[in-house]
Amino acid sequence: MSTFASILLYALTASAEHHLRTNNIAIRQNGNTNTSILVTNLCSETIYPAILTQGGTGPQNTGWVAAPNTNVTVQVSEDWQGRVWARSNCTFNSNGQGNANGGGSQCTTGDCGGLLACKGPGAAPATLAEFTLTGSDQQTFYDISLVDGYNYPLAIVMQPNGNQALQNIDPSTTNPSCVASIGNFFTGSNYNPYTNNQQFLGTSSSQPLPFDTKNTASSISSWCPWDLQVNPPTAPGNGVYPYPDDNIQRPVYNPCTSACVKYGQANYCCTGSYNNPNKCSPSYYSKAAKSACPDAYSYAYDDQTSTFVIPSGAGFQVVFCPGGKSTNIIGSKGAGSIKHQRR
Ligand SMILES: *[C@@H]1O[C@H](CO)[C@@H](O)[C@H](O)[C@H]1NC(C)=O
Ligand SMILES: *[C@@H]1O[C@H](CO)[C@@H](O)[C@H](O)[C@H]1NC(C)=O
Ligand SMILES: *[C@@H]1O[C@H](CO)[C@@H](O)[C@H](O)[C@H]1NC(C)=O
Repeated sequence: MSTFASILLYALTASAEHHLRTNNIAIRQNGNTNTSILVTNLCSETIYPAILTQGGTGPQNTGWVAAPNTNVTVQVSEDWQGRVWARSNCTFNSNGQGNANGGGSQCTTGDCGGLLACKGPGAAPATLAEFTLTGSDQQTFYDISLVDGYNYPLAIVMQPNGNQALQNIDPSTTNPSCVASIGNFFTGSNYNPYTNNQQFLGTSSSQPLPFDTKNTASSISSWCPWDLQVNPPTAPGNGVYPYPDDNIQRPVYNPCTSACVKYGQANYCCTGSYNNPNKCSPSYYSKAAKSACPDAYSYAYDDQTSTFVIPSGAGFQVVFCPGGKSTNIIGSKGAGSIKHQRR
């Protein structure tokens, strides 16, 4: 591994310290991979989904090119632990490598050591779908994480797979969505995807998802704190942004780095003397992320409220660019509504 890649991996592992915390599951190669993760690209552009296995048996396919409106299903073990994200704007050669044989970054966000098939975590910022399929008490834990920043809108749809206990759960309490990119956001006031008996993210009008009603086109265009924008607008001719910054038109595709990733400070990352829920409060980044995506996990000690829990046995669909609006399940139904304990 090149020095660059080692440093990259180190930096990412460090920033990933506070993700979904569960018991440790060893990575295996030979588990029965009988659980499906369906990855759907509803973005209008080609994306490059990626999968990192942190426990259990992961899929052979760890990264691919996904044209708009395509699905790829991968198989993992029932005790799999890992994450799914998407990379933007990659350029790989026919071997799935970058110019420097996989040494340099080949994607503008989410890159994993320049390889199409990832062998490690992705570079921040990236919106993550995180899963621990069999955690404590035979339960599945999952979340949408913005802890390492945000690049694409993402939704998670629980798939009961014929399991009666899972089928009985109201799907409007299991399928969170985070839409914080203006290009994928419904700008009207009443978002209703259920007309003409339409289904949306595994739900129907009889058990509709509660959507966020606070955000507007303006708030979604400018939620990312100015200093954390990956693509800040070009400064005008004199090189000085007029004040206030927020009146400047921002680019449509504008990923957002988290304050922890950008500055690495203990108070933003909840590390060192801040490694304690009573000491580490949400940063300006996590507040902004939570207001754009109320059901997402935005900083280290937010996981108690934003981790979904169901009895294990489900498969999942991860949808990039689901469209519409972010869900607000926790805000409208309460933090208890997303904890479905095994009975
Ligand atoms: C999946 O495989 C595991 C391990 O072999 C097994 O215990 C479980 O019953 C299987 N699940 C299904 C749905 O087949
Ligand atoms: C992708 O899978 C979803 C869920 O099963 C299905 O509704 C959709 O039609 C599929 N899309 C394509 C292009 O196959
Ligand atoms: C993708 O990369 C090309 C070439 O570097 C650049 O011109 C373009 O703006 C990038 N697009 C996005 C969405 O980042």
